[in-house]
Amino acid sequence: MRTHYCTEVTEKNIGEKVTVAGWVNSRRDHGGIIFIDLRDKGGLVQLVADPAHNEAALKTAEDVRDEFVLIATGTVRARGEGLENPNLVTGKIEIILDELVIENRSKPMPFDLNDEKVNDEIKLRNRFLELRSKKMFDIFKLRSKATIQVRNTLDELGFLDVETPILTKSTPEGARDYLVPSRVHPGEFYALPQSPQLFKQLLMVSGFDKYFQIAKCFRDEDLRADRQPEFTQIDVEMSFCNQEDVIKVAERLIYDVFTACGKTVPQTFPRIKYFDAMEKYGSDKPDMRFDMAMVDVIDIFANSTNEIFADIAKDTKNNRIKALRCPNGDNVFSKRQMKGFEDYVRKFGAKGLGYFQMKEDGLKGPLTKFFSETDLEEIVKATELEVGDVVFFGAGDKKTVWDYMGRFRLYLAEQMEIIPADTYEFIWVVDFPMFEVEEGKMKALHHPFTMPKSLEDTRDLEAIESIAYDIVLNGTELGGGSIRIHKEEIQAKVFELMGISAEEQREKFGFLLDALQYGAPSHGGFAMGLDRMVMLLAGTDSIRDVIAFPKTQKAQCLMTQAPSEVDTEQLKELSLRIRKTEV
Ligand code: AMO
Repeated sequence: MRTHYCTEVTEKNIGEKVTVAGWVNSRRDHGGIIFIDLRDKGGLVQLVADPAHNEAALKTAEDVRDEFVLIATGTVRARGEGLENPNLVTGKIEIILDELVIENRSKPMPFDLNDEKVNDEIKLRNRFLELRSKKMFDIFKLRSKATIQVRNTLDELGFLDVETPILTKSTPEGARDYLVPSRVHPGEFYALPQSPQLFKQLLMVSGFDKYFQIAKCFRDEDLRADRQPEFTQIDVEMSFCNQEDVIKVAERLIYDVFTACGKTVPQTFPRIKYFDAMEKYGSDKPDMRFDMAMVDVIDIFANSTNEIFADIAKDTKNNRIKALRCPNGDNVFSKRQMKGFEDYVRKFGAKGLGYFQMKEDGLKGPLTKFFSETDLEEIVKATELEVGDVVFFGAGDKKTVWDYMGRFRLYLAEQMEIIPADTYEFIWVVDFPMFEVEEGKMKALHHPFTMPKSLEDTRDLEAIESIAYDIVLNGTELGGGSIRIHKEEIQAKVFELMGISAEEQREKFGFLLDALQYGAPSHGGFAMGLDRMVMLLAGTDSIRDVIAFPKTQKAQCLMTQAPSEVDTEQLKELSLRIRKTEV
């Protein structure tokens, strides 16, 4: 019906008759003449209903309210002198109405589309209205651009787009499964895929050579700002490749997508070993937009007369004493704030947080009395302290120290406002351990299909490295992958080391173990979170902004009211009975 989108009407069209369609962004009655800002997906154009030009259009315009849907035909003319709006693409013109049709009316809006402060619940309940805002539309335009570029690049590189099942068997990626009851097999369940991991590996056994999929994944886990129960992965797998080959594809993909979205990024990214990342940044997803690397001072603290530190320093294998220099911190933070930092790290298991301040006349702080002059000098040297700096110390069991000092590093940087906006700092984290102990159980750190570097010495499982890599952007894990196990005996051995019995192996992964016995080629790949990528491209800090119909922290869709109860008939068909228990 339209001849132009709103923002396509410019000075070039002056004198032309045009038809535009959209929603009423605002309406102003200037004593007999009505101005309407009409909005479509691109932006606004001003309509004028003037009785001197067309009486009927004015009559209709009198009836119009915000968010009514209009189809408007009129003649483009220059705005009067001084009435131009430099903030609009269409700010130099207006459309004087010849005909105005109200295609649909709107109830008063439940919230103001332009008000950023409206509570999330109201917005999510009316998500279809929230998506009307230009900000949201622009995010989805960006998402579409990124997705199309993913397909184009992978197609160009010879990858085949293959869909894998949604109703399937559980693939362990570390979260709980969403289950779907089977009607035809009472008491049995499908699991929604946490990722297409096993299917993509099987496609390599089939000889497809290069696979990709923009895949929906489902994980029932605690939600955070960068996690949703239902999310999308750019999932890639290739045969006869090593880590370098896979990294090359991932770097090319990221470069192409970011470039298509107007961002400048390098073609290759630096790398850091997992253990170096933990020692320096206390995280396997270090934010490299600022430095503030931690320094090991356990040897210096071993000399201190403080019993607690000296005791911790006895076990250099399992314990750490880390120094974190905060440049200029002494000038920025008050004593009270410094005390507050201790409360912050205590939340993550710290027993305390010592610190020194570097003053004009040397190191100050209650801890200094436990050190000799030379040791204090050593600390200054090791941490490269300058006047005005503060240095914080974390001491204790290494995993706890890494964790809370890593979080504290980020927290301090945020407090100091030293994290630059609009920069993209990528880093590959490589050489992950194969296993980690979690709640006393041996778990695969990535997933159990990852190729260990060697299984010759299995005395210390946590010391075994794997050929796994993560790509981290600005402190967010954007993606991860690995070279996979392609030999049945290695796969069975890894399961065994994780305490999975032969029986359980067959029951859960029999199809994989079988497939690996029929000429499985070496293979590897990665998956990147598409939602997270768009989130970082769009510069938003919530994954909800980049998912059209997202779920809340409690995994609900407030708009459709999912999840919801079902009627007894449906339950009966599925052979299910609900037993409500007190939570
Ligand atoms: P992984 O579990 O690391 O690897 O997932 C890959 C990427 O998917 C994104 N992601 C999420 N995004 C939003 N919400 C979530 N709940 C969520 N969980 C994960 C992250 C993450 O880096 N099969 C392996 C990949 C492989 O080995 O090829 C896998 O799924 O960006």
